[in-house]
Amino acid sequence: MVARMDQNRITIFDTTLRDGEQSPGASMNLDEKVRIALVLEEMGVDVIEAGFPIASNGDFEGVSAVARAVTKATVCGLARATRGDIERCAEAIRPAERGRIHTFISTSPLHMKFKLQMEPDKVLQAVKDSVGMARKLCDDVEWSAEDGSRTEHDFLCRCVEAAIAAGARTINIPDTVGYAVPDEYGALIAMLFNRVPNIDQAVISVHCHNDLGLAVANSLAAVNNGARQVECTINGLGERAGNAALEELVMALRTRHDRMPFTTGVKTENIIRASKLVSAITGFVVQPNKAIVGANAFAHESGIHQDGVLKNAQTYEIMTPESVGLNRSTLVLGKHSGRAAFKSKLKELGWDLGDNAVEDAFRRFKDLADKKKEVFDEDIEALVDDEVLRANDRIRFVSLEVVCGSKHRPPSASLELEVDGETRAHTATGDGPVDATFNAIKALFPHEVRLQLFQVNAVTQGTDAQAEVTVRLEEDGKTVNGQSADTDTLVASARAYVNALNKLLVKRQKTAPEALSA
Ligand code: KIV
Ligand code: ZN
Repeated sequence: MVARMDQNRITIFDTTLRDGEQSPGASMNLDEKVRIALVLEEMGVDVIEAGFPIASNGDFEGVSAVARAVTKATVCGLARATRGDIERCAEAIRPAERGRIHTFISTSPLHMKFKLQMEPDKVLQAVKDSVGMARKLCDDVEWSAEDGSRTEHDFLCRCVEAAIAAGARTINIPDTVGYAVPDEYGALIAMLFNRVPNIDQAVISVHCHNDLGLAVANSLAAVNNGARQVECTINGLGERAGNAALEELVMALRTRHDRMPFTTGVKTENIIRASKLVSAITGFVVQPNKAIVGANAFAHESGIHQDGVLKNAQTYEIMTPESVGLNRSTLVLGKHSGRAAFKSKLKELGWDLGDNAVEDAFRRFKDLADKKKEVFDEDIEALVDDEVLRANDRIRFVSLEVVCGSKHRPPSASLELEVDGETRAHTATGDGPVDATFNAIKALFPHEVRLQLFQVNAVTQGTDAQAEVTVRLEEDGKTVNGQSADTDTLVASARAYVNALNKLLVKRQKTAPEALSA
């Protein structure tokens, strides 16, 4: 029997750095992974899945770096059911105070026949062998039945029983393709509790994908039927339509404690900070109407709603903005604000930067304050993200001048970039100012990529608002997102393109000959 302190405590297993990073374009470098891991740990996440160590040297290093940096949360690495994967995973998590090997194999008829080309008996043997092998290297082993929700029940019960007997402490039943519906998925978990004789020796976990928009509902149905670990990601990032969103799960449990008497260790006031950091690092913009973390999640537009909220916030707010970390602070900085006010603002927003980074950010803040009457929290966040995320870039933006709007001359962009420490300049023309700017970048750093997305959003209101630009580039099937913000939309566009290009260069270095997507 697994000893649990509190039968209703749900373990939060965050896989933003593994399944989340598998979203097309959401690559993260080592420093970025560590920064996210530290924010997750501070937020109270129990288990951080940091990567898939066999997938590439970059993934291995990322898991190791997170294992070294994190002290309170368990650090987990993913491994297929092979000796090579499991040994590499064990090596990557070795520096962790608390490490976990998460090994998996497909168990559904479809996956066994077409993906693995293995008979069920061979898969069952692989479950026993892989879990046994992992247990020799690490006490904390999780086993997943990939495509578990489409697995035949008798076979699933036999695999789960075998994995527990071989030493798995956590058994995960993923809805890998987001096919399940809540009552069916809840019943699947109940079925395991009824039929697997040694089920009380493991924690049952769920991992739901969001292809039908049901990932959170399915996870909660599973919790209501005995699951005590949920796997999720910040902002619902993940393969295809993503995974269950951590913020939605945790806030549903907190807000509807009357119907679901379960607790988590997550300090919900840290949610917005984590969401913003993941969005800035991956370049995945959060949709405005996204539950909990969208820009409109606590905004009231209609007069009737505004009136109600002013009289009593509970009329239209089921949770307070403060409970997710949105403070209504109105400390607005302007061009007369000094270093001390700026530093205290950074602290209030949760940034702990070194002296040089503070100086650089302060310089950019002063430039911004010269152009913009009032500088809001969102402006400071966009600016600091920009500064911190570019620390290790090979290509750096220096300056841009654009001529456009004339009938007689084609739009042109004169751009200066620093490439590996050397300043290069070029003037290019194009179909418009953005096209000219991107042509200048291509001339200064020749490359063949496909521009998949160019998107502009205003960070705050007003014509002097900063523009936040996202650029998605694709090369040989690999995609990356770059982001930047500036009051000048064209400067933000150039910086966002350069940011994406830097990410692509990092991605090129990641070699993954033996990797398979999980
Ligand atoms: O979706 C899935 O099945 C997975 C497993 C590897 C847990 O990501
Ligand atoms: Zn998954």
